[in-house]
Amino acid sequence: MTAQPGTNLRVNGDRLWDMLMEMAKIGPGIAGGNNRQTLTDEDAEGRRLFQRWCEDAGLTMGVDTMGNMFMTRPGTDPDALPVYVGSHLDTQPTGGKYDGVLGVLAGLEVVRSMNDLNIKTKHPIVVTNWTNEEGARFAPAMLASGVFAGVLTQDYAYARKDMEGKNFGDELKRIGWVGDEEVGSRKMHAYFEYHIEQGPILEAEEKQIGVVTHCQGLWWLEFTLTGKEAHTGSTPMNHRVNAGLAMARIMEMVQTVAMDNQPGCVGGVGQVKFSPNSRNVLPGTVIFTVDIRSPEQAKLDGMRARIEKEAGEICAALGVGCSIEAVGHFDPVTFDPTLVASVRKAAEDLGYSHMNIISGAGHDACWAAKVAPATMIMCPCVGGLSHNEAEEISKDWASAGCDVLLRAVLETAEIVG
Ligand code: GLV
Ligand code: MN
Ligand code: MN
Repeated sequence: MTAQPGTNLRVNGDRLWDMLMEMAKIGPGIAGGNNRQTLTDEDAEGRRLFQRWCEDAGLTMGVDTMGNMFMTRPGTDPDALPVYVGSHLDTQPTGGKYDGVLGVLAGLEVVRSMNDLNIKTKHPIVVTNWTNEEGARFAPAMLASGVFAGVLTQDYAYARKDMEGKNFGDELKRIGWVGDEEVGSRKMHAYFEYHIEQGPILEAEEKQIGVVTHCQGLWWLEFTLTGKEAHTGSTPMNHRVNAGLAMARIMEMVQTVAMDNQPGCVGGVGQVKFSPNSRNVLPGTVIFTVDIRSPEQAKLDGMRARIEKEAGEICAALGVGCSIEAVGHFDPVTFDPTLVASVRKAAEDLGYSHMNIISGAGHDACWAAKVAPATMIMCPCVGGLSHNEAEEISKDWASAGCDVLLRAVLETAEIVG
């Protein structure tokens, strides 16, 4: 029988917190959070700091051609596949200090705690930083883990453009993080991701740990509406081809569609680009992205079909051109029952309050689940607030989830001795 962790096994919560605060100094935001968007100079600096910490902890780095970072602690069995633990260091333009970063640095803290206690495992442990999870600068989200899982191609990823027209491939090269490993060539024994909840449920239920059983699926639909640029003062109302009005009606319709699919569906618009974006010019072009999500496949796809049909009708009635491109998608995910049970047992053994939860946000774990048994652990965040510089968690919450991560990882990687 494999040795089990002792009942008092814990990570060093102060050390984890210190790492989080140190990383947050790189790419500070304007309101206490972070702007460390993917493939910026700040992203490169954050990567270098993480690399240094990992190498100080005795880990060996591998980097693939998507810039994904894999930091390995060897196991005792040369044939055993590694247990991966990861998330992302990139942030939203007005992001918090914990979304993604917690999962990467908690992986490192797990390894540091194992080093302190001289724990050996049969399977290697690989702490991972996935490139461009956020999708804020380059759509879609979870771009590099999507290529790793074989769902997206590297050519597609390299050609993705930001709002300034710069492409992913050139920017990855510019910051110096194109590695030499073929993407997806690594095989995983299991994948764990620890993340803040980014919603209000755990805090409201006074639970320390979210045992994540599923992740809801998503469509990002990018609309390009074509109207006619014209003077806002001198163009009579019945002469207008108003792409802005079409956008407003579509936004209202998306709200209605999501409300008609309660419970369990969400829909909204987070990004809009008006052209020419001048106060007294009716827009000639409006580009915006509708984000719809649901844990139920039928509801998700039903919402998409209805939105596309009704948007076509809205635009036809206004004489506005409408084209729609799906720029992001994943199906709802069911996480691996054995790993989910291991997380729940770890929380129970530690005496932490816990509950099952469905992830509302997308995560690299959703793509990892395509190629390996995968699961997630969540901790609460204050007021459920995330994708906001005011995102906050407590040190105790952070370290409780990391304790659970340590135990679940050790059970899966199998302690030797
Ligand atoms: C990723 O952060 C998402 O959009 O869920
Ligand atoms: Mn995240
Ligand atoms: Mn995020």
